[in-house]
Amino acid sequence: MFRLLKNLFSPQYRRSVLIAGVFLVIGLGLSGTYATAVDYTNRLEFCAFTCHEMSFPYNEYKKSKHYQNEFGARAACPDCHVPHKSWTSTMVAKSLATLELFDHLFGHIAHAPDTQQAFEADRLELAKTVWAGMKATDSRECRNCHSFEAMLIDQQPQRAQGQHTSAMKEGKTCIDCHKGLVHKPVQQLLEPAAPPASFDIGN
Ligand code: HEC
Ligand code: HEC
Ligand code: HEC
Repeated sequence: MFRLLKNLFSPQYRRSVLIAGVFLVIGLGLSGTYATAVDYTNRLEFCAFTCHEMSFPYNEYKKSKHYQNEFGARAACPDCHVPHKSWTSTMVAKSLATLELFDHLFGHIAHAPDTQQAFEADRLELAKTVWAGMKATDSRECRNCHSFEAMLIDQQPQRAQGQHTSAMKEGKTCIDCHKGLVHKPVQQLLEPAAPPASFDIGN
């Protein structure tokens, strides 16, 4: 038994054990504790304070209009980061998010001598994951609160009017343009799109 446990926690198996652990959590979820777990993990405080690395996004977010504004309406972490409409997609997102959270908690960020520096080093990759998710769902979480139909576009700033009108025609989604909204912007670090291949060179 002792050897079994020792083997389970050897570096070779650690990742599989972690994944098994996540599935166990999902299993528990199916048996009814799920709703409570979701409520708990959805609390703003949970996101911000459970792990130190989340305090960086939290401090940035606190300066944004999604935290405080003249209307007194707030979007908290899960409003943008956790799917709401469908039970199954919530569960899948939660487990993936959990995996990622574990990976980071016990991974190199937590072990780095300077967690902020390690977080900054990973930020672009993390952001890319979030962008890809939002692109794939047509910015579904944004649309829980916003929609083009609900906008008085003619009362928006000139630049927004033009962009939103063409976005509707071209089927663009919120995250195509609104990157770096509540966190430190990193979209400028994205590599510019590869130049179109030229077949002329050397001919
Ligand atoms: C829980 C509801 C909610 C969600 C989810 C939400 N927003 Fe907002 N958003 C608001 C409210 C309320 C305001 C008004 C704040 C203000 O401008 O005073 C706002 C303001 C904005 C603004 C203008 C202010 C600014 O910070 O530039 C933009 C742009 C915006 N949202 C885009 C988005 C995008 C993109 C998403 C998805 C990633 C999103 N919102 C998700 C509620 C939400
Ligand atoms: C093609 C690019 C583009 C797309 C797509 C787009 N926006 Fe915008 N949006 C803009 C620009 C540009 C502004 C003006 C920003 C500024 O002036 O600071 C803006 C401004 C806003 C504002 C602030 C309006 C105000 O009156 O200040 C909100 C809210 C907003 N967008 C929400 C959204 C949401 C929600 C979506 C998806 C349904 C979306 N946008 C899609 C480009 C876009
Ligand atoms: C209004 C929607 C919105 C809210 C609220 C929000 N996020 Fe984000 N988050 C995003 C978007 C969009 C990205 C993708 C990167 C970007 O565009 O800034 C992102 C990226 C991230 C990342 C990847 C690192 C980075 O900086 O890009 C982390 C971690 C994160 N969010 C955690 C949080 C936490 C924790 C909270 C609450 C304290 C929170 N987010 C609140 C929309 C939101």
